[in-house]
Amino acid sequence: MAYEMILAEIQGRVGVITLNRPKALNALCDQLMTELGEALRAYDADPAVGAIVVTGSEKAFAAGADIKEMKDRDFPAVYFDDFIGKRWEDVLRIQKPVIAAVAGFALGGGCELAMMCDLILAADNAKFGQPEINLGIIPGAGGSQRLTRAIGKSKAMEMILTARMMDAAEAERANLVARVVPVADLLPEALKMGEKIASLSAPSVAMAKEAVNAAFETTLTDGVRLERRLFHSLFATEDQKEGMAAFAEKRKPAFRHR
Ligand code: CAA
Repeated sequence: MAYEMILAEIQGRVGVITLNRPKALNALCDQLMTELGEALRAYDADPAVGAIVVTGSEKAFAAGADIKEMKDRDFPAVYFDDFIGKRWEDVLRIQKPVIAAVAGFALGGGCELAMMCDLILAADNAKFGQPEINLGIIPGAGGSQRLTRAIGKSKAMEMILTARMMDAAEAERANLVARVVPVADLLPEALKMGEKIASLSAPSVAMAKEAVNAAFETTLTDGVRLERRLFHSLFATEDQKEGMAAFAEKRKPAFRHR
């Protein structure tokens, strides 16, 4: 598959997708989002890949949905196209862990895309924001919900109502990101994390991701029930036998489903 607006390359056992529309600061136009969805699905289906990294440039992870592309759209156009939902939510259907490696601007849809990934690793120059209010709109790809769940009501309200950006240090304090690293180390650190995940048993990795993400979708009782069932089901895998036998025998496990 030839892509025009992204780069896709497997490094070790990690599928790396780089948003690559530098002249528009990786504004997330329809074509870019379609290509991103295709690349994510391809890596999800590829047994050579155990984890996926989505990244941008040093200046911008993504500066949001493409304002120039959407500025003349009217209500029926966005409504019947299910604008945002249709092309943007592919990342939510990927079973392998997706790490957002964010440097520079992650604004509007860029911040929302990062939050749709399973975790965010931030460079020290990252800036997160939901500045849609400046355009006479509100976040449309889950920002009002995911940002609020990640950082709490007051901070989310402030960012969404005033368009204030949050730098990487504040994003780490607010639990929006897992970790902050120097910008030069961003991709190496994301790859290291991806390799670690890819070295583990794929069913347990996929189910761990499913269980954690369920915490955002359901009640505590239902979430714990789901966790318990997934936990039980892993006892049907050879990797569980291997992982536990290796511990008892004081050796490294050789997981089969990787
Ligand atoms: N859409 C389209 N083009 C964009 C863009 C966007 N979201 N963000 C930047 N660009 C373009 C600029 O128009 C400019 O193009 P030209 O050279 O052709 O003029 C180019 O990228 C470089 O941008 P700037 O000259 O503005 O760069 P800067 O360094 O001065 O400023 C910035 C950087 C602060 C990120 C600024 O570009 C900016 O404010 N961008 C818009 C951010 C924004 O409002 N995002 C929310 C979009 S709406 C949304 O995402 C809805 C949703 O919930 C899904």
